[in-house]
Amino acid sequence: MANLSFLSMGMIFFLCCFAAVATAARPNQGISKYKDPSQPVHARVRDLMRRMTLQEKVGQMTQIDRSAVTPEILRDYSIGSVLSGGGSVPFPQAKGQDWMDMVNSYQNGSLSSRLGIPMIYGIDALHGQNNVYQATIFPHNVGLGATRDPDLVKRIGAATALEVRATGINYAFAPCIAVCRDPRWGRCYESYSEDPSVVQAMTSIILGLQGEIPAGGRKGEPYLGGKDKILACAKHYVGDGGTTRGINENNTVIDWHGLLSIHMPGYYKAIIEGISTIMVSYSSWNGVKMHANRFLITDFLKNTLKFKGFVISDWAGIDKITTPPGANYTYSVQMGIGAGIDMVMVALNHTLFIDTLTKLVNDNVIPMSRIDDAVERIMRVKFMMGLFENPMGDQTYLSQLGSQEHRDLAREAVRKSLVLLKNGQNADPPVLPLAKNASKILVAGTHANNLGYQCGGWTITWQGGSGNNLTSGTTILGGIGKAVDLDTEVVFSENPDADFVQSHNFSYAIVVVGELPYAETAGDSTNLTLAEPGEDIIYNVCSSVKCVVVVVSGRPVMIEPLVAQMDALVAAWLPGSQGEGVADVLFGDYGFTGKLPRTWFKTVDQLPMNVGDPHYDPLFPFGFGLTTEPTGEQ
Ligand code: GLC
Repeated sequence: MANLSFLSMGMIFFLCCFAAVATAARPNQGISKYKDPSQPVHARVRDLMRRMTLQEKVGQMTQIDRSAVTPEILRDYSIGSVLSGGGSVPFPQAKGQDWMDMVNSYQNGSLSSRLGIPMIYGIDALHGQNNVYQATIFPHNVGLGATRDPDLVKRIGAATALEVRATGINYAFAPCIAVCRDPRWGRCYESYSEDPSVVQAMTSIILGLQGEIPAGGRKGEPYLGGKDKILACAKHYVGDGGTTRGINENNTVIDWHGLLSIHMPGYYKAIIEGISTIMVSYSSWNGVKMHANRFLITDFLKNTLKFKGFVISDWAGIDKITTPPGANYTYSVQMGIGAGIDMVMVALNHTLFIDTLTKLVNDNVIPMSRIDDAVERIMRVKFMMGLFENPMGDQTYLSQLGSQEHRDLAREAVRKSLVLLKNGQNADPPVLPLAKNASKILVAGTHANNLGYQCGGWTITWQGGSGNNLTSGTTILGGIGKAVDLDTEVVFSENPDADFVQSHNFSYAIVVVGELPYAETAGDSTNLTLAEPGEDIIYNVCSSVKCVVVVVSGRPVMIEPLVAQMDALVAAWLPGSQGEGVADVLFGDYGFTGKLPRTWFKTVDQLPMNVGDPHYDPLFPFGFGLTTEPTGEQ
């Protein structure tokens, strides 16, 4: 009996030890390791990967626009991500709750898949949550570059993250860290500057969007710090802003040193700041499509710079590897995935992509190791951001959309983005700041009373729009009306003739002209002229009364022949929804502080012309900007 009892005692002791060990390895018993938040990310990734089928892995590499997907498709194909392309909204003037309901319905589809892997939802929140009606619209990047204020830009990132979360979305295709080297490029306003050091400084927006890596945190690892933050995306890798003659999606001809010193610095900084995703450019480098560039994506970005997040294509970007796009889709998928793209913004036809890639793997054209690299990167980001624990939109953020606090921040950004290029004729006294107590003033121009024009492209719709019903905000005219004294008469005339101007005894005139909204290739230009009848308005007004010209544009435009006519000249870029920031500085509540982020040319024949170039002969040089002191009258 003694032996038996000893044996049973030993067995009991062993079983207790085994149970203890088993429990320690799986603190939360009963759930799969990948669903256990107490497990380290690498363990969760490994556990999930070993459970996934090839179709589920390929599904996670697929991103589809909301217009081409249903919750059932997300469930059945284990799709990794959904997006809203420019202007892809649930319905016109949808509110934050409408967006959140839509996103949550898609997420429920994903969560009902076999492994319940939640999806991420991406959107172009480039200057605020700009697809969404009544969101705060911040100045476009060219204006933020003029502020030279990385802390301001970080605060804008944090506000943008809150307004994106207010719609239930957790991923923004921002910041664009292009270094635009030719203002004829239709995307130049998405670039902070022609100078890579200014672009590098403005990557501070990533810390606002994703959160700051805590002390001791591993720099260079993808990072997201909290439910009020969102994944960011540095784009478009690499050299998008250097295309020949600014032709969008074209060829960037530059040697290795030039690419590294001009177009790469923003990516060095973005990776250090924990950028989670990087989007590949449509453009080519020395004739090689970036979407097919294994050296720059895999050898350099992943293996040399040690980027640990995931690489995403642009919209149907792999289709454009061939000319015409989609001419040989199998080749496109093979080259794009083989180059190192991890998630494909397929955009519309998920089955074609999934079937094509699955066949390439089954035919041993693309190795499983490439698929596993892509899916591990995607899963690492999804686990790191807490997506499995918090997959659904959080209604506590609904009130953040278009909040007064964010509008005040946008107004501050407008003030700091304005660049004063001329202030008075020769020896005459300065024109600015303007008197608030003038008896009668004229406000003229196509852009004075047009919220859509002052927001520019990527606002509510892809190309932007015209008028004051596009979204909520304050026009430049509206800001002027609030700034002047109550008994100052403000006369608005969009396109006055000289007789009209001369028939009134105006103390001075403010003329607001510029470019019409555009996005991407639609903005490519060879002449960079003001929208009609901008030049005539300047002549008619400035030949009859003291005038301040405010230019609302995404880039320097052709004004050299007109400058002599003007008494003062202000570059306002694309200020966004809070146009009152312009009046704040025109009337001296705040001083002018902005500096040109781009060279302002004399004629387009000089282009491309950037600071540091030989034969540099601009109208206004990079870094130029006159200053004024606040008057102290608030
Ligand atoms: C566009 C742009 C890219 C954007 C994407 C999704 O074509 O090139 O910047 O993020 O598609 O809208």
